[in-house]
Amino acid sequence: MAVEKGSHHGVNDTGDERKDYSFGYHKVSAAEKDRLVRDHFTSIARKYDFMNTLLSFGLHYWWKRVTVKRMPLPKGAKILDVCGGTADLSLLALKRSRGIGGIIVYDINYAMLQAGKEKMERSGFSERIERVQGDAEIMSFADNTFDGVMVGFGIRNFTHMEKGLAEMHRVLKPGGTFVCLEFSRPTSRLFGALYDFYSFVVMPLAGSIFAGTRKAYTYLPESIRLFPSADRLASILGGLGFRDVTYERMTNGIAVIHRAVKA
Ligand SMILES: C[S@@+](CC[C@H](N)C(=O)[O-])C[C@H]1O[C@@H](n2cnc3c(N)ncnc32)[C@H](O)[C@@H]1O
Repeated sequence: MAVEKGSHHGVNDTGDERKDYSFGYHKVSAAEKDRLVRDHFTSIARKYDFMNTLLSFGLHYWWKRVTVKRMPLPKGAKILDVCGGTADLSLLALKRSRGIGGIIVYDINYAMLQAGKEKMERSGFSERIERVQGDAEIMSFADNTFDGVMVGFGIRNFTHMEKGLAEMHRVLKPGGTFVCLEFSRPTSRLFGALYDFYSFVVMPLAGSIFAGTRKAYTYLPESIRLFPSADRLASILGGLGFRDVTYERMTNGIAVIHRAVKA
């Protein structure tokens, strides 16, 4: 279960200096965004699981369980958990279906993969989980490799989201299922106002008290606000060649699960 290097780092070090990319509400270059996202997750890795549970009141486990339920997990299936971080989705998938052939937890950030290491070892599934470090925007897996690809709270952080989604489509076998769990915005205006207060006031405060970083928990709500709507993401997936694209909103739309099949 050692960490392997997947693909190359610095994929965006291409001299693209224009500040066309968003890191929260800040406009940055592609290379700056890569670095800022990396630093962000490195700074919160050790507290990541705890902060998720605290800030979502444990709801993230439920959202993750539903996400995994949307993924067919037949005997022998090979599954890729992109932006897998501390491996929650992978462990839930292995708990649900003990017959899975194997899961790869794929993440660009070494600290995040390390933060989940103990949990993976304790789970008793470590023989069927492999951790691979690499960039989701340029993966070294061959075309049509996986029966299922899942991604939880990952694509919002990509520098080139469509490139990452196209990579996930490429490595999926035809007929294979893609599921994506991501934050979104509440559908009710009242709930939306409460959620705004919670995310722009309470979250950064909790971040500074419990994780020692206000900045990281300011990026989180800002990046959620800038992320495409559920409808827009569904049409992006359709445009990339996925079929049967559906989505469901969780908890008044705070989170959304998209599901699609590779044609
Ligand atoms: C919010 S965490 C989600 C972790 C886990 N999937 C979960 O649901 O708890 C986002 C993860 O995406 C990873 N990530 C961000 N950009 C990435 C990229 N370009 N390629 C691979 N992983 C990336 C981060 O390192 C981080 O571990």
